[in-house]
Amino acid sequence: MTFERASLGLFAAALLGVFGALGGAFVRAIDTGATPTGAVHAIESPRASVGAQAGAASVVSDLAHLAEDALVIASNRGPVNFAEGASGAIEVRRAGGGLATGLAPLVENRSNVTWIASAVDGVDLRAARTRVPTPGFNMRYVTMDPARYDLAYNHVANEALWFAAHGFWDGVRAPRFDATFRDAWKAFRELNRKFAGAIDRAAPEGGTVLVQDYHLPLVGDLLRERRPDLRTVHFTHTPFGGPDEMRRLPAAVSEELLHGMAGFDAAGFHTKRWATRYEQSSNELIVRAAATYVAPLGIDPDNVRRIATSAEADRWVQDLRAIVGDRMVISRTDRIELSKNIVSGFNAYDDMLERHPELRNRVSFVASIFPSREAVEEYGKYSKQIEATVDRINQKYGTADWQPIVLFNDASNMPRAMAGLRIADAVLINPVRDGLNLVAKEGAVVNENHAALVLSRETGFFDELAAAGKGDAVLGINPFDETETSDALYRALTMPKRTRTRMAKQLRGAVEARGPEHWLRDQLHAAR
Ligand code: G6P
Repeated sequence: MTFERASLGLFAAALLGVFGALGGAFVRAIDTGATPTGAVHAIESPRASVGAQAGAASVVSDLAHLAEDALVIASNRGPVNFAEGASGAIEVRRAGGGLATGLAPLVENRSNVTWIASAVDGVDLRAARTRVPTPGFNMRYVTMDPARYDLAYNHVANEALWFAAHGFWDGVRAPRFDATFRDAWKAFRELNRKFAGAIDRAAPEGGTVLVQDYHLPLVGDLLRERRPDLRTVHFTHTPFGGPDEMRRLPAAVSEELLHGMAGFDAAGFHTKRWATRYEQSSNELIVRAAATYVAPLGIDPDNVRRIATSAEADRWVQDLRAIVGDRMVISRTDRIELSKNIVSGFNAYDDMLERHPELRNRVSFVASIFPSREAVEEYGKYSKQIEATVDRINQKYGTADWQPIVLFNDASNMPRAMAGLRIADAVLINPVRDGLNLVAKEGAVVNENHAALVLSRETGFFDELAAAGKGDAVLGINPFDETETSDALYRALTMPKRTRTRMAKQLRGAVEARGPEHWLRDQLHAAR
């Protein structure tokens, strides 16, 4: 198989193959004790603070659980992608994206695990129809008429549910729900029904079903009707919209969505904050909610570092250094995504250079960002706005030998992105809202310079750190406040080296305490 990147968590793809067999994965696992009881459970059991004995005991029980029980995973994107090779033959590639890649290495080569995913484009449809083999994964594909799938995926999931989850609508121009949206909602329901049908066919009596993300919320209720014997868990990888956001959806839509989720045995979230919003929305709008649990996704530090120090990444370190010289470096890497607040981050940098002229020509901002969801109009506009902002700042301060912002905004290039994180003095992660943010975790483990992390308080990762008492390992910012962000960048670049080192070490320790295996185990606990 070749390897392909997709959407989130730049190094998440690198998690593939880290663990190989599950045995390896769980040797390092520690019981986090996630149990859905109707109340929100914070899960805080860093590896470092739990004794080896407790870890070993849970390894045995969880291995047994996974080894024996039938497990069905359902997600819109699966762990493999299909692409048409030069000869027209279909090639199988590993998918990127934190969701698929966090899970994939943990369930690879397990005959008791079935993974159900959408055929997301024409090549996927062809592959599904001709049953192209997917080594390592027992795949089933849900297929739909492409125009109907587009309505479900783009019009409902990306444009409506994503916006509700992140609180993006301004209320003045958007949202507006018309007859097209009603039709799109029917397509979305059809997608969810097809998934429920596929799960019904794949899951043996009493099996465990893990359903992923905002594309498939209706599956809970649909399955409860058909298959009350199954243990079903849903996990939301984004934030969740509170009652005010959910009320903006057509009433019948928000009610169907929340009833769908209430049909699961448990609903999981990266942080308590998103879980609470889900509960509030459900309780206010339909007076019914699934039990919730909190389980932030982690990364595997060793594997991330292995990829970040590949020969290609090393070459990029040299190339970037040739561009920025010995100047200090602020770094970011993201998909071009409305939630990432990329323009505002550059504005904050502009403000810092304006107020601290002594830093001009002493720092470069290396931004490695890559296109996503280009079918959604707002994303195209945002991409242009980013380019215009970078041009403006480079023209304002740039000199013959200094380019204030070094922008890469072509196709995703993981080695280059990781090289940028490696050489950074400050990493900027400033989303307006983010379910978790794996890039922040990746930066913390690959950086070689004790970089300070300027982190939006609106990310799930900030909440995760705060819940673990590690909030002071980062410089927290309000992502809407460009002055505060500018101040934080300035502080990151000028704080005493020993303070920065202490913070970076604390941050790394917090990230290393929890890997994807903890997350998977939390799902299995929630299903019990
Ligand atoms: C983001 C979200 C994930 C989601 C993914 C889908 O990264 O955080 O929760 O699953 O987007 O991306 P896609 O490219 O498939 O729309």
